[in-house]
Amino acid sequence: MRDYLIAPSILAADFARLGEDVEAVLAAGADIVHFDVMDNHYVPNLSVGPMVCSALRNYGITAPIDVHLMVKPVDALVGMFADAGASYITFHPDASTHVDRTLQLIRDAGCKSGLVFNPASSLDALQYVLDKVDMILLMSVNPGYGGQSFIPSTLDKLHEARLLIDQSGLDIRLEVDGGIGPANIRAAAEAGADTFVAGSAIFGKPDYADVIRNMRNELAQVKSQ
Ligand code: DX5
Ligand code: ZN
Repeated sequence: MRDYLIAPSILAADFARLGEDVEAVLAAGADIVHFDVMDNHYVPNLSVGPMVCSALRNYGITAPIDVHLMVKPVDALVGMFADAGASYITFHPDASTHVDRTLQLIRDAGCKSGLVFNPASSLDALQYVLDKVDMILLMSVNPGYGGQSFIPSTLDKLHEARLLIDQSGLDIRLEVDGGIGPANIRAAAEAGADTFVAGSAIFGKPDYADVIRNMRNELAQVKSQ
């Protein structure tokens, strides 16, 4: 079995008591914190920035923080999020003029780097930079909002990305984001994902541990690959 990670998205958490809510979801068995950054420019919505990331660190959150930048341009925020305690920083290649440079900036700042692909985007941008990427994130909804439905064509794309990773022999995580929950996490894993973002499926339920347990039970049934 792959080393699966469950990454609750803070977008669906209670912003008025974010530290407590993130602490609770980690105590309930989550592995990493998915931190969605929206700028009302690359995507229509507006969320949180580096100050909130460092507030979580100051509150005592020690789990990896997976910063998903839905912002354009990207570069100015890289150093700010690295200073704020980000572990991963992922961005959309169509939001950066110089993708290779942005990837290098992220690693030079001491973080793990990643590229994010929208539902209609091909994986072509990976061709020349795969060795500079620690995470590939496939969006299974259009970015901007939580609570949307999973787009099924993501499964084919996960297969494609998994093949690329396995053929490269590189240590790259394959994350899927949008509309993930107990009902489809197994299909996403069988298509090759190893890191699962879930916002509303987890924070929308009263018992986080129960949902996370259901997700892990589904993962335990993934057919061996
Ligand atoms: C969408 C965000 C996602 C989103 C996931 O733009 O990147 O992380 O919050 O939320 P759910 O799991 O509710 O689709
Ligand atoms: Zn996200």
